[in-house]
Amino acid sequence: MKAAVIGASGQIGGWLVHFLKGKGIEAHGTYAGVSYPGLHQLDAADHQAARDWILQLRPSLIFYPAGWTWVDGCEKDPARAEAANVADPLNIALAGHEIGARFVYYSTDYVFDGTSGPNTETDAPKPLSVYGRVKLEAERRLADKLGDRCLCLRTAWVQGPERQGKNFAYQVWKNLSQGKSMICPSDQVSNPTYGPDLAKVSVEMALDGRSGLWNVAGPDLLARDDLGRKVARAFELDPALIVGKTTAELAQPAARPLKGGLDSARLRQHYPAAMRSLDHWLADFRAMCQEPGNHPEWPFVPPQAS
Ligand SMILES: NC(=O)c1ccc[n+]([C@@H]2O[C@H](COP(=O)([O-])OP(=O)(O)OC[C@H]3O[C@@H](n4cnc5c(N)ncnc54)[C@H](OP(=O)(O)O)[C@@H]3O)[C@@H](O)[C@H]2O)c1
Repeated sequence: MKAAVIGASGQIGGWLVHFLKGKGIEAHGTYAGVSYPGLHQLDAADHQAARDWILQLRPSLIFYPAGWTWVDGCEKDPARAEAANVADPLNIALAGHEIGARFVYYSTDYVFDGTSGPNTETDAPKPLSVYGRVKLEAERRLADKLGDRCLCLRTAWVQGPERQGKNFAYQVWKNLSQGKSMICPSDQVSNPTYGPDLAKVSVEMALDGRSGLWNVAGPDLLARDDLGRKVARAFELDPALIVGKTTAELAQPAARPLKGGLDSARLRQHYPAAMRSLDHWLADFRAMCQEPGNHPEWPFVPPQAS
């Protein structure tokens, strides 16, 4: 079996390639701007090139952990947000549809307004931001065009080891290692989700032929500043360097859901052990980062020494 992973230089995509190969699947990953050995350069905005690549490769599974994920950037440039998060994946999904490929898309709890989280798959979405609106539009257009050949996984606050070392846990690790404090929202609540767990279960679900909308998020629900303190303690750094401020005080350009998060009960019913708790995955994350030599297949980005 052959699979394509658009955005394999990113955190979810990197782990997808890892787990696909572990299943003996011929996995072909792409990068846009940050190259890694073995990945193919592809700008999904070049619709003809993207379509040609899919039609030539002929994968039976396409994962799309890509897009423009900068929430405040999307707020300032809605046209780019829509192109990168709706039109570009749709173009690749339709090319794949022509050759019978199944498509896996990643969406977000930002499709909700944060008044009633954690939300289930059947709750009515009401996005507050451009990012949330375009992700919801993509969910709907993909489902409309692909039907049961589309699997849409909503997730939240993805953390853990990743090639580019960009996620919130890395920011905490890097800043606090250098004695720098970090201001974090104290009233935005969601589910931290371990990237490797998300990628692993994504592969299982795709291979099981799952379709439709599924919540795939970690089991813990907490505020962002509390997550920062948890990460600090796991890495033996000073949790007092995490400074909580309310969303109103922070005045971020895009509105965020406050009472956010995803209820992944349906996932737990079918894949009970898929998503580890925060304490378990933080221990796993720390061990992997401390012993990168034990994981030569995975190029970790260690924090800068202080
Ligand atoms: N991270 C989260 O907490 C979270 C939460 C909910 C939903 N999601 C969704 O999950 C998906 C993946 O998130 P992530 O955190 O893994 O993102 P990420 O680490 O930022 O990776 C994004 C990937 O997309 C690629 N990419 C960017 N622009 C592209 C383009 N024009 N053409 C082709 N590839 C392009 C990037 O390539 P280069 O780096 O090489 O440029 C990178 O490989 C996104 O759709 C996001 O909306 C993420």
